[in-house]
Amino acid sequence: MSKIRVAVIGCGAIAQRRHIPEYAANAQAELVAYADPRIERAREMAEIYGGKAYASYEELLANEKIDAVSICTPNYLHAPMAVAFAEAGVHVLVEKPMATTEEEGKQMIEAARKNGVYLMVGHNQRLMPPHVKAKEILDSGRLGKVLTFRTSFGHPGPEAWSVDGRDSWFFEKDQAILGAMGDLGVHKSDFIRYLLNDEVAEVAAFIGTLHKEDTAVDDNATCLLRMKSGAIGTLVASWTQYQGGDNSTVLWCENGVVKIGTVSGDEVIVELTNGTVETYKVGAMATNEKQVPSGVIDAFVESILNQTPPSISGEEGLRSLQVILAAFESQATGQIVKLQP
Ligand SMILES: NC(=O)c1ccc[n+]([C@@H]2O[C@H](COP(=O)([O-])OP(=O)(O)OC[C@H]3O[C@@H](n4cnc5c(N)ncnc54)[C@H](O)[C@@H]3O)[C@@H](O)[C@H]2O)c1
Repeated sequence: MSKIRVAVIGCGAIAQRRHIPEYAANAQAELVAYADPRIERAREMAEIYGGKAYASYEELLANEKIDAVSICTPNYLHAPMAVAFAEAGVHVLVEKPMATTEEEGKQMIEAARKNGVYLMVGHNQRLMPPHVKAKEILDSGRLGKVLTFRTSFGHPGPEAWSVDGRDSWFFEKDQAILGAMGDLGVHKSDFIRYLLNDEVAEVAAFIGTLHKEDTAVDDNATCLLRMKSGAIGTLVASWTQYQGGDNSTVLWCENGVVKIGTVSGDEVIVELTNGTVETYKVGAMATNEKQVPSGVIDAFVESILNQTPPSISGEEGLRSLQVILAAFESQATGQIVKLQP
């Protein structure tokens, strides 16, 4: 089969640091076009990696014949863009959060289904080596059932990440809709569902804007989760961990504890109730400062080439988003929110 012809929409931080270089490094993909209203960003990518630059995705769609697209734009644009590309018969890889409402997520899934294209969501946490190792350990069954857990994701906020710094869309409520919860919380709702092979049954949450100024988006959240299996735990998302950012998960199981990302250099630690301690050096978790290949792009290209639906599907992205939306409902109502089975 000839190379997959790819376009990238939005040429900001995630496109520049992961999507575009990872397509460029994939021998089976060819970068053919980029779109960004700040066309100089699209032009810069075209100059470095080849292909054409456009100021809008509509113009790109009208002029280019492509097989696949990466949508790396502000959250509120994910759904309309994903639907437009799916309707044009293009396979879609959309960044997380896949959408900002449940209805949008369902429309995206339906558009992909109707048009016979794949919809994949960029939940790269699943593919990080420490997370892959921890899943392998839990799936082996030797730790027994997971009883309780905590999972958290925090950093100083998008100011130092987004190409627009403090002026970023990340702080504009009408463009981001979800703040730290859309940026970081949804990574962890997805990861915990995946790691435990379980679904979130109930959510209670406190969500607020504690420290960022001149913004209506959340910068902190602490959520209580009850899983279908009965396991209970906490999920934390924070944009105000100005020192000592965190991407860790600890699971207390029947036969011991699994610690992920708690000690630098020993990414996964297993302490069994019989006293045995196992440490695994499997490679660091990506941070904003230190990027490692996400694996998401290779998985997307492979799924198209092999005509195998992507494992991080639209349905998966939607379930992970629903947990975050339920947390906002809990914050708004002061109630524990049950998720649909
Ligand atoms: N998977 C991850 O780990 C991860 C990490 C960071 C960001 N993201 C997600 O990626 C998406 C983009 O975030 P980012 O960090 O790259 O943001 P960013 O602010 O660095 O870049 C966003 C880019 O989108 C462009 N844009 C705005 N409107 C557009 C439009 N109509 N058409 C085309 N481009 C448009 C902007 O000009 C900018 O260049 C977000 O949804 C974010 O949640 C995912």
